[in-house]
Amino acid sequence: MSIHMAEPKENLQMEKIVSLCKRRGFVFQSSEIYGGINGFWDYGPLGAELKRNVKELWWNAIVRRREDVAGLEATIIMSPAIWKASGHVDTFSDPMCSCKACKKLIREDQWWPMMCEQPWVQSLAAIVAPGTNELRGEELLKWAKTKGKSFAPNLALVKNPEVTLSWMAEDVAKGKYPANAEEYYSYLATEQRGVTGLVKPCPHCGGELTEPRPFNLMFKTHTGPIESEENIAYLRPETAQAIFAQFKNVLETSRQKVPFGIGQIGKAFRNEITPRNYTFRSREFEQMELEFFIKPDEAIEAIHGSVATVSEAGHPGEPQPNWGWQAWHQYWVEERVRFYEGIGLSRETLGFHRQTAEELAHYARACVDILFKFPFSKRDENGELKGEELEGIAARSDFDLSQHQRFSGKPMSVFDDELRNAWNKLPKEKQDDLWRRYYENRKRYLEKSGVEAEPAQKQATEDANGLAKGNYIPHVIEPSAGVDRLILALITNAYSETVKTDDKGKNETIYLMKFHPRVAPIKVGVLPLLKNKPDLVKKALEVRDLLRPWMNVYYDDGGSIGKRYARQDEAGTPFCVTIDFDTLGEKTELLDTVTLRYRDDGQQERLKISELRDWLLARIR
Ligand code: GAP
Repeated sequence: MSIHMAEPKENLQMEKIVSLCKRRGFVFQSSEIYGGINGFWDYGPLGAELKRNVKELWWNAIVRRREDVAGLEATIIMSPAIWKASGHVDTFSDPMCSCKACKKLIREDQWWPMMCEQPWVQSLAAIVAPGTNELRGEELLKWAKTKGKSFAPNLALVKNPEVTLSWMAEDVAKGKYPANAEEYYSYLATEQRGVTGLVKPCPHCGGELTEPRPFNLMFKTHTGPIESEENIAYLRPETAQAIFAQFKNVLETSRQKVPFGIGQIGKAFRNEITPRNYTFRSREFEQMELEFFIKPDEAIEAIHGSVATVSEAGHPGEPQPNWGWQAWHQYWVEERVRFYEGIGLSRETLGFHRQTAEELAHYARACVDILFKFPFSKRDENGELKGEELEGIAARSDFDLSQHQRFSGKPMSVFDDELRNAWNKLPKEKQDDLWRRYYENRKRYLEKSGVEAEPAQKQATEDANGLAKGNYIPHVIEPSAGVDRLILALITNAYSETVKTDDKGKNETIYLMKFHPRVAPIKVGVLPLLKNKPDLVKKALEVRDLLRPWMNVYYDDGGSIGKRYARQDEAGTPFCVTIDFDTLGEKTELLDTVTLRYRDDGQQERLKISELRDWLLARIR
């Protein structure tokens, strides 16, 4: 019987990061002056710059620098019919329990991790020690009358210890010990087993939890002045659905052809039951989503004779016309990993989770989650951090567009000339084989989506006949990333501290945020050596103004140069330039040069002002 407690060292690490984030203006609690609001976070001056950089890098990599992706910026509130078609109205829910005593809500899958963090559970852990199977009634009674009273007042063991312990004693006498720690705590929470069976305790107060019930995560609102059922609208829980809903408009106006993608960055809202781990699970957050539309494999086979095979490891290289969903999926996983590497998250800091057949949605072919090893991440059996999801890359078949076609009655299929021509040249057996496979896939989708067998067969026949004439509903690969989680990953990855001892033997902790220059909120600090020397100040302001149109520059003339460097180190500024007397020509050969200092090792070198801008641009882009 063992309880995995969150490692104190890791909690401390997160506490330090949270404190630096507030102190330096990366992240603030939303509405802090009113006590905050759970699950909502604001980004301060440095956080706002960091976020902007990340979004711009994603947009450039995914949309601007590619021929085959177009951008979209859709509204947050859309027709509620969209959420019916996507399945969010009916199925976007987490099973949730509520406490009968304190009324707090707890996500079922987070019950045990939350329990492990509670002081009352931790204080009981010494009694409920791993490896002991005896009922320590005396100690439990003592705990109930002392610590239990203040920590978990609604726990059955505290309210009615004799009766509560009698259930466990009865079972223990029969040689039936609680199977694990979770069950042990359920015994301690159960007063009337005959009526309720074993119940789970509330992590907050020990009270009895209800059975889990589905809780829809979408925030509801109303459009217009009347709060009626007809006027219900939802804040979008993901940006993806707008892309599907605007698929035809974008296709027609962007002169794209399948395969092509639509990218979008924007806010999403989920009424998370238990927002956790700082900004990791928030109620308002931002997503960067790409829906990359591809031909169904049957169309690829008809056109190219076969579908390219790929190994599951490594980047498959430049996209090829004969790629099916597997190659495209592999391509996007690797492209996204390259993106993360390019902004300073090395492969060692990342993890991967390929969803199992049981985890996958019925329509999905594959999904790989890219994880980041946060200090609060779970550990595997070897004690290694497993990581938490940063981004999911899903091969979603033609489910989404098919749903919107069915629900809106508007066609979502495309006509492919190449397919029609190729189809007509295929031998009859090949046509029949492809027709049958496409028909089976369409029928499976329709039946799984609740369409009766007969209409599903009729529709699938029409769809397969359509394929033979060059029509299909595109399939999609969806790389879907969270901006806020990435920001948190970049912050925890950048955080470093060292203890420095000065000449007098006094220790001082030095904080350094080692952001990759591409994401760093401030790219360069411009510092005049002295602020009371007008010539130095004038020159420093000239350098600032020279760089400002190109990057985020911070001009600082306050305090000793060492203090100013330390301030920039904490902000994660990769470079500082100092304007000194040599810049003004005290040593003639150094006229119009500056001292450039590197953040990570404090090394310095001399650089000409005329070369400074290009030198910096080469490192921050
Ligand atoms: N369209 C697919 C989709 O939304 P998801 O896995 O639910 O998939 C995608 O979300 C990404 O959005 C996640 O990998 C995560 O980075 C981010 N995300 C989801 N819920 C979040 C939350 N409550 N707080 C912060 N980020 C979240």
